[in-house]
Amino acid sequence: MKKGTAVVASATITMLVAGCHVDQWVQPRVNSGAASDFYGDRQGDRPDVAGTVSFNGYVAPDERTTGKAGKDFTPTIPAASVKAFGGSTSMLKRGQERYNIYCQPCHGVAGDGNGFVALRGMGYWQKLPANLLDKKYGPYKAGQFYDVIANGKGAMYSYSSRIPDVDDRWAVVAYIGALRTAAKLPMPSNLNDSMHGDAPEKHDAGHTASGNESGHASEGEHN
Ligand code: HEC
Repeated sequence: MKKGTAVVASATITMLVAGCHVDQWVQPRVNSGAASDFYGDRQGDRPDVAGTVSFNGYVAPDERTTGKAGKDFTPTIPAASVKAFGGSTSMLKRGQERYNIYCQPCHGVAGDGNGFVALRGMGYWQKLPANLLDKKYGPYKAGQFYDVIANGKGAMYSYSSRIPDVDDRWAVVAYIGALRTAAKLPMPSNLNDSMHGDAPEKHDAGHTASGNESGHASEGEHN
């Protein structure tokens, strides 16, 4: 330990002594956002070359990233997404977690549209959150739910910035399927066969969603 400290100390001193040149302290450079006479547009910041894509962030659009195969919504959850979670059970767990964070406030813990925001008067001025258990979503394809998360729909804005990981979005889609199964409704068109049998237990949604005496509702949960 002592030896290590001595090595570090002597290295630091050597660096300080050797680095005592002032010739690099002042050198021509352009501060971010500053003007520059060098370029015709007088901007120091140079624009990206046309067609530049982020090296790390670029993902080629496909079913997994768009929810669409060609023009049509993809009927099932991409197998690659299920694989990314190491199976449907952990995918559903992740989906449940993401759903409860981002969707449940409006759509309710059971997906019936009775989330807290809805109960607190959102529908007075605006459209009510959709009841995801409604039979009209039976014919929905997996990609259609994905699309709502990625791009929003009607009064609902996009959740792409809050759920940036495409597989997380599919996990939420899978969880919506599980909520429908839990409510003994038909799964929206074959969300994914591998999802069957993995539905979580039915939520005790009746208590939280229907109680308008909110103070009492939370008391009940602790008992
Ligand atoms: C701030 C409230 C709010 C949150 C949070 C929210 N939604 Fe919505 N959602 C709405 C409203 C309002 C509508 C109805 C939009 C309309 O019909 O114009 C809706 C509609 C939907 C629909 C039905 C679209 C259709 O085609 O009819 C789906 C599916 C949906 N939301 C999924 C989700 C998912 C998944 C999440 C979480 C990632 C989420 N929502 C989060 C408010 C919300």
